[in-house]
Parts: sequence; structure tokens; C-alpha cells
Amino acid sequence: MIRPMIAANWKMHKTIPEGVEFAKQLKKEFSEPGDVDIVIAPPFTALFPVAEVLRDSSIHLAAQNMHWEEKGAYTGEISPTMLVDAGCEFVIIGHSERRTLFGETDAMLNRKIHAALKSGLKPIFCIGETLKERESGTTFEVIKKQIKEGLNNITSDDIRQLTFAYEPVWAIGTGKTATPPEAQEVHRFIRETIAADLGYAHASETVIMYGGSVNPENTGSLMDQPDINGALVGGAALDIDSFEGIIKILER
Ligand code: 13P
Repeated sequence: MIRPMIAANWKMHKTIPEGVEFAKQLKKEFSEPGDVDIVIAPPFTALFPVAEVLRDSSIHLAAQNMHWEEKGAYTGEISPTMLVDAGCEFVIIGHSERRTLFGETDAMLNRKIHAALKSGLKPIFCIGETLKERESGTTFEVIKKQIKEGLNNITSDDIRQLTFAYEPVWAIGTGKTATPPEAQEVHRFIRETIAADLGYAHASETVIMYGGSVNPENTGSLMDQPDINGALVGGAALDIDSFEGIIKILER
């Protein structure tokens, strides 16, 4: 049985006081380790203050991005070591907004995954097709390429540290969710692709979250699918009541 994960990606939202207040409320409600791994990914500025709130709790902290180098002349970038220093355990890598708005390629993401693992950070690796790719029937081809190139030279031991998030780009922030069977079909394909490379033993334990317009109303039917092991939530994770509502559905 895979332990489900629910992660809040706040994107470029929340000031430090807003993030701290959210974390305090979440910690009050979920102070003891439950049946679900809860992760929150604040913007960089709020990471350390939120880490201070989450100390001694079972709620995990993630960053939304990082650079692959340890240090150097990379103005505006954040290194894996800095994220560990700020209290992060996880880091989101390859979110579609990074790929499409900031030009991140599969090769760059591969470097980031290696760098994260080297620093002891657990990557949450995002993959997903655009609407154009889905409509042209290339979804599986795109997903396979993202996995193969993103995970180039990743060992089967490394894969244990990785969580996947399938986020169809056309479902992000649009209110348009993949139907549970549509999402399940791709999640199954992702698991089979990992299994083909790294063995079924590893693939059967890998957490594959779904992301894209997840809300308290559609969470239950998505999570009923055998290969969907959690949710990476954007808009509905900005409001404490709605995020807690989603966690409670997963805990059932
Ligand atoms: P929404 O839940 O707002 O569609 O965002 C999903 C997402 O991109 C999470 O990383």
C-alpha cells in the first residue's frame, strides 16, 4: 500500500505573515502523523519562517524550484544547499510553468534532479502534456520523453527518493480537470515506464500525484483510481479550509 501525499504549491502567492498563519493553522489541525504525507511549498521568501512553524510537526516543507549549481555567479538563483539550510526536505522540479514560462528543458531538469539528490533533497518531478500534444495524440510519447530525459542516469536507489506529479498542462488553473479514467490511464503509463527502466519493485512503490484543478469536490473520485497516490494542489491549496478539506478526503 502506497502512502499518499498531498502537496500545496503556493506558486507566487502569500507573504511571510500569510504563509506563517496558514502553517500554524495546518499544524494545529494535523499535529500528529496521519495516513497522508502533507507537504507545503511556499515561495522562497517564506520558506525559513514557515520551516520554523513546522518544526516538530509531521508536515513537510518543499521549495518550488532550485538551480543545479551549489554556488557561484548565478544572480537570482537558489542552490540546493540553501534550500536544505532553509529547512526544505522536498523540491518541486520541472513544473510546467518552469518549463513553458522559463524555458527549462528536460536536460536542465535532469541536472536539477541529480543536484537535489546529491544534497539530500527529495525531488517532486512534474510531467505532463499540453492541450496541443493531447489533441494530436502524442501524450504518451511526451510523457515518456520527459521521464527518460529527466531521469537520465538516475539509479533505482535514487528513484526511492523521487515523487512524481502528473499535471496535464491544460488542466492547470483552468478549472478543467482530467477525468479520473483519463488521469488513471496516464498514471498507469508513468508507472509502467518507470518499471521498464528500473524494475517493478521500485515502480510499485513510487508515489504519483495528480495535479490540475484539484479541489475538495473532485479529489475523492481521482484518488479512487489505483495509480493515483495523491494530489499536487495549486489554487485550492491557498485557502486553509479547502486544503484541509482535500487532506481529510485522502485520510479517509
Ligand atoms: P491548480 O490546482 O491551480 O490547477 O494548479 C495545479 C498546479 O500547478 C500545482 O502544481
